[in-house]
Amino acid sequence: MTVLEIAAPDDWHVHLRDDHMLASVTPYTARCFRYALVMPNLVPAICSTAAAVAYRDRILAAAGPHARPDFQPLMTLYLNDALDRADLLAGAADGQVMAAKYYPAGATTNSAAGGSSLLAYRQVLEAMAEAGIPLLVHAESTDPDVDIFDREAVFLERELLPVLDQVPGLRVTVEHISTRAGLDLVRANDGVAGSITPHHLTCDRSDVLANGLRPDLYCKPVINSREDRDALVAAATSGDPSFFLGTDSAPHPLSHKLASPARPGVFNAPYALEVVAELMFQCDALDRLEGFVSWHGADHYRLPRAGSTVRLTRLAEDETTPLDEVTTVDGQTVTIFGVEAARRWRWEPLTEPEQVGG
Ligand code: DOR
Ligand code: ZN
Repeated sequence: MTVLEIAAPDDWHVHLRDDHMLASVTPYTARCFRYALVMPNLVPAICSTAAAVAYRDRILAAAGPHARPDFQPLMTLYLNDALDRADLLAGAADGQVMAAKYYPAGATTNSAAGGSSLLAYRQVLEAMAEAGIPLLVHAESTDPDVDIFDREAVFLERELLPVLDQVPGLRVTVEHISTRAGLDLVRANDGVAGSITPHHLTCDRSDVLANGLRPDLYCKPVINSREDRDALVAAATSGDPSFFLGTDSAPHPLSHKLASPARPGVFNAPYALEVVAELMFQCDALDRLEGFVSWHGADHYRLPRAGSTVRLTRLAEDETTPLDEVTTVDGQTVTIFGVEAARRWRWEPLTEPEQVGG
């Protein structure tokens, strides 16, 4: 039997939503992950420190009875015209705000409030570089002339490279990297890191399209080619500290996933750890799991690595029958990604984590 012990994992990119959905999904993140870097794409978007602090309070209230005692949501502000530079700097200096997130307008769910040019925020970015506040980017060109499978590469080329060039010292996370182009950019630039999702690591576009359309796997950036997926797996299993887990868990009611147009987003929080553990197992790289899920992100965000540990056990047979959907308090169904991996893994907190502030 395969048993391993790792430092408690962190999720460096998660959507927890609000209201009924928040209440239904947050416990899954809170019981597994120590830090959760929470995305600000609510409607209205989280653009001020006050809004982020109020949202964090709602998240903590929704964390549920099985939350890790050290579960800590880390808050991000939505970088757009409504963001006030002084407020961001004060919020970050106070430890209330971790980062600012840039969405190209129209690229994905709730991105209508996003920008049309990253460099248009040059003054904010310069202040962030000076204060050491990380920029998180949704790297997808919204140019309709660009093929959907090339949009990450084009955004990086047209939007991010000029910023890296003109705002030296800016710390950046390229979120949910989906292509080799994203990996290459991270490797080539100091201070730039990349989060990678469980679904981009374990699926390619044939899984989405070839055997009947799979709306449950539709996300932004879209899951790309087999070659891209192989490159992501190589990065995640390489031990390179520039790459770490960001689940991009993004719940939508099944009715919205099955609508036309379908909403992009994969809800993977319940089994994200199991999916990555199974991938590492299949790649004979379980010794890289801890770096990818527990160390590299904390190092990039200059936070302490977890002192507490989690034990993972790979089950010889299908010993469990994991849930494959969640029903929200208002009766919506949300499909869970990663059920196959959840049949093979069990995990439990091993050493008692310290209470936040304790
Ligand atoms: O697939 C996605 N869903 N990608 C994103 O960038 C946003 C997310 C969401 O909020 O649903
Ligand atoms: Zn996201």
